[in-house]
Amino acid sequence: MAKGRFPEGFLWGGATAANQVEGAFDQDGKGLSIFDMVPFVPKEERGDLEMEVRSEAELNALLAGDKGDNFPKRRGIDFYHRYKEDIALFAEMGFKTYRLSISWPRIFPNGDDLEPNEAGLAFYDKVFDELLKYGIEPLVTISHYEIPLNLVQKYNGWHDRRLIDFFVRYAETLFNRYQDKVKYWLTFNEINISTISPYIGSGMLMDRLEHKEQAIYQALHHQFVASARAVKACHEIIPDAMIGCMLARMETYPETCHPDDVLAALEEDQKNLFFTDVQVRGAYPSFMLKYFEKHNITIEMEPGDEEILAAHPVDFLSFSYYMTMVASGAPDKTKQRGNFFSGVKNPYLESSDWGWQIDPKGLRITLKKLYDRYQVPLFIVENGLGAYDTVEEDGSINDDYRIEYLRAHIDQMGEAISDGVDVMGYTSWGCIDLISASTSEMSKRYGFIYVDQDDYGNGTLARKKKKSFEWYKRVIATNGEEL
Ligand code: BG6
Repeated sequence: MAKGRFPEGFLWGGATAANQVEGAFDQDGKGLSIFDMVPFVPKEERGDLEMEVRSEAELNALLAGDKGDNFPKRRGIDFYHRYKEDIALFAEMGFKTYRLSISWPRIFPNGDDLEPNEAGLAFYDKVFDELLKYGIEPLVTISHYEIPLNLVQKYNGWHDRRLIDFFVRYAETLFNRYQDKVKYWLTFNEINISTISPYIGSGMLMDRLEHKEQAIYQALHHQFVASARAVKACHEIIPDAMIGCMLARMETYPETCHPDDVLAALEEDQKNLFFTDVQVRGAYPSFMLKYFEKHNITIEMEPGDEEILAAHPVDFLSFSYYMTMVASGAPDKTKQRGNFFSGVKNPYLESSDWGWQIDPKGLRITLKKLYDRYQVPLFIVENGLGAYDTVEEDGSINDDYRIEYLRAHIDQMGEAISDGVDVMGYTSWGCIDLISASTSEMSKRYGFIYVDQDDYGNGTLARKKKKSFEWYKRVIATNGEEL
């Protein structure tokens, strides 16, 4: 294994999101968020995209408790009360950064409030102070699937242009308040998720909308403008900060070298990179404008929108990386599910227990391709293995499979850096066990730290170090030289 590949100051760490760890969903003035409404559904009863709420009737049934009271994201892992203990463990691993998100409805409970909730702001002050005490840089996602529910009910989410101003007010509040504490920001987590899940990505109930694809891209346009305005505000308020976008990156391979497969893969890739084309290059790419034309989609833009996008591109590109996809030019190929996306099965790759295809070399390919296309610093802000863990009789958790997964991915990241790619850092997903985004399971674990809780909220919530804890600590201590 090559030595000395990672630059000095490389930002090693871990990542979580407020809705998956905090709990305390109704404390200290927090309003409801979209994910507070997603109940746990046992595996045998699960359909497709269980997290998607599609209609007002469905939402009302959830609010009325018709689908039970097991809403795992409402309880998280109680980070809200245990953040000191958790951060101490991150510090013990030597984290240089910790990626967390701020819960929008903790700051603006209804989303459209004029004044922020002081108790919410004070909570994150305490969290940031605790991180900084250990020299851990906070990396903050402003919106990670935490849209205030009121914005869904009253405005149908991002479909309504007024959300731009609500979001900018929220972002500016954060920049002003935390300007001395937070130097790394991300606007929207996995901004491309709305094409799969309009409720989670854009807070939209699709039964209210006729031309669904049009609605999705219109909402996304509002999110792009909001993001660019947040970039502008961040640069003005915190000149020494960096602010990035965040993409669920899906590198797509052609199934064979048949030109039809190659073209299909290229087009899938374009669809995925459309988002970063707008946010990094500052303009809608021509292939997307043609796509809109062909699909009868008209994006309503206001004067000045294109200028805002062009004038305020992000400083860096961050992305989540869990898998790669395969595209076929032949219609009706059987698809393999990923976290939210699906593609043709790759016979050369193994899959996780959740069917996600594991592809460490794909990370190197991804990094090289993104850097070729954009020439901006890259940040891997999510990568990891969701797996079932077993606590042995002696209390140990021997997650060698997780070490194996992370080792292979970090090694390929090192190779990409050796190839000349500028990578700022790496935050492995779910550094402490948390509630799964797509399935609301607790039993799907990513962490170096085990949390004693099951899918129904039973357990002591005690934290326990897994075998991977010491392993990652060594990786960081040696700046990635010892994997
Ligand atoms: C990403 C999300 O899609 O994948 C995270 O940004 C999520 O919020 C992660 O947790 C892993 O997905 P899951 O469904 O296993 O939690």
